[in-house]
This record gives sequence, C-alpha cells and structure tokens, in this order.
Amino acid sequence: MSHRKVVLVTGASSGFGEAIAGLLAKRDLEVFGTSRHPLANGSVPGVSMGPLDVRMDESVRACVDTILDRTGRLDILVNNAGYVQGGAIEEVTLEQAKAQFETNFFGAVRMVKAVLPTMRKQGSGRIINISSVAGLIAAPFLGFYNASKFALEGYTESLRHELRPFNIGVSLVEPGFFKTNIGRNRQYGAEPINDYDPWRRRGLSSIERLESQGPGPEAVAECVLRIVESRSPALRYRVGTDARRYIRLRRILPASTFERGVRRAFKLDAKS
Ligand SMILES: NC(=O)c1ccc[n+]([C@@H]2O[C@H](COP(=O)([O-])OP(=O)(O)OC[C@H]3O[C@@H](n4cnc5c(N)ncnc54)[C@H](OP(=O)(O)O)[C@@H]3O)[C@@H](O)[C@H]2O)c1
Repeated sequence: MSHRKVVLVTGASSGFGEAIAGLLAKRDLEVFGTSRHPLANGSVPGVSMGPLDVRMDESVRACVDTILDRTGRLDILVNNAGYVQGGAIEEVTLEQAKAQFETNFFGAVRMVKAVLPTMRKQGSGRIINISSVAGLIAAPFLGFYNASKFALEGYTESLRHELRPFNIGVSLVEPGFFKTNIGRNRQYGAEPINDYDPWRRRGLSSIERLESQGPGPEAVAECVLRIVESRSPALRYRVGTDARRYIRLRRILPASTFERGVRRAFKLDAKS
C-alpha cells in the first residue's frame, strides 16, 4: 500500500506525457507512465514505466491491475496517449477513422472505466483528459482528429457532472500547437485523391510549421501539476498563447469572419 498519491500517465514515452510524468515525479507522488514499447523507449527519471495499448481492453486491465497490486490505490489518471490522423476526410478510410477514435476517444474511455471502481471506493480521485484546441475549433485536413477531440470534450463535461458526488474531479487540458513528436507520428489518408493535392499540401504544411515553431511541452506539464495540486480544479485549461488567442477570437468574432480567418491561415482560398 502506497502512502503517497499514485498517478498514472498514459503515453509517457514522448512529448507531453513524458514531460508530465517527469514533472509529477519530482513531487511527493508515485508516478506510473506507459508506452506500447516501454523497454525500447527508455525511462523517465522517477517514473515506473509499464506497457499499455489503450486500444486493447486486456492491456488496459493488466496495466491498472499491476499498479493496484503494487500500491493498493490510484489517485490521478492523466489520459494523454494520442496521435493525429491527417488528410482530407474523403481520403481517410473508415478503418483509419475508427482507429483514430479507438486511441484518442475510446482509449480514454477504457482507462476511465478501469480506474473508476477504485476511485469511487476511495471516495476521491482526479481524471485529467488531454484534449486540444482542436477539440473546440476544427481545422481542415484534421477532420477525424478534430472529431475525436470534440467527442472527448463532450464526454468529459458529462463525466465531470456524474463524478462530482464521489469527490472525483475531472478536467480537460486544451493545448495549442507544441513541439513534440506528434508531427512525426501523424498518419495520412490511405486513399489519396490528387484533386486535394494543393490544398492538402498547404494546409498540412501550415500545421507542421505551427507545430515545429511551437514551444516545448513544459507548459502543459506545469498545467497538469497545477490541476493535481488544486483543491477544486476547473473544467477547462487552455495552454499556450495561440490556444487562448484562437478561443478568444472564436468567441468575439462573427462566425463568418472567424471562418474566413481559418481559410486564410490554411491558405485554402488559392485556386490551386
Ligand atoms: N503536440 C501538440 O501540439 C498537441 C496539441 C494539443 C493536444 N495534443 C495531444 O497531446 C497528447 C500527447 O501528444 P504529444 O504531442 O505528446 O505526441 P507524441 O510526442 O507523439 O506522444 C504521443 C504519446 O502517445 C502514446 N500513444 C500513442 N498511441 C498509443 C496507444 N494506442 N496506446 C498507448 N499509448 C499510445 C505514445 O506512446 P508509445 O508510442 O510509446 O506507445 C506517446 O507516448 C495527444 O493526445 C495529443 O492529441 C498535442
């Protein structure tokens, strides 16, 4: 039985997850991180790394059972594992679209289902879902990524209401563009259609530029730490000046003006 609070961070081999697990491990917390290939992906100081594929029920069950066997408790779940399915909506196969949801949405759902019996029994807990500004504002050529994060947003809002009586806090973190391995791990439509070439090329290269010029993942880790340490965490946390700017513009601008801005940002109105 652990005397420290126990944290589980999914997708801790890279990017946000690695930064989150590493920062939390510097506090008085017992931190478990996961990867689909934990040995190949090295270690994060102070973090116990274990295997997890959030697409598989068995893997999720084994991951949570292993932690419970070792510690007897689980206080904080950070649902971070995810990737981006890019490409025009017509170019992405149904199989790829479902795969995007299996990781980004149902992956989080599986994890929540696995930890809730323990958290309810404990009478306390915290669930932090790493969403994105892409869960609030849709960009071209990221349609299924947007859809998976929009789904996570709605699910999390509902979950927060339901878990309040059990003293389980639920929050969303909505980063803007950050430099991680997300670009390198991006998937593309398996059924490319030449007609989309110029727009897809310009749209995706705008996204790649924003990611590669973005800051490192530390601010997201600091935000998660703030949530962990807060007595009453809010529902939503925006991270990054770009994230806050996009959301503010979306709120204050007429819908048609905002839409024109998105088209300009992704250079969509050029004829070819
Ligand atoms: N970077 C950004 O600009 C940005 C902005 C907003 C939101 N986000 C979100 O932040 C989260 C982390 O992304 P990142 O930028 O840190 O990307 P990253 O550097 O590519 O890291 C992704 C992590 O997810 C894990 N993962 C992927 N598929 C998995 C699966 N099926 N089961 C378990 N783990 C899996 C990977 O672990 P293994 O490969 O080792 O299994 C890796 O640790 C994602 O949910 C992403 O949507 C990123």
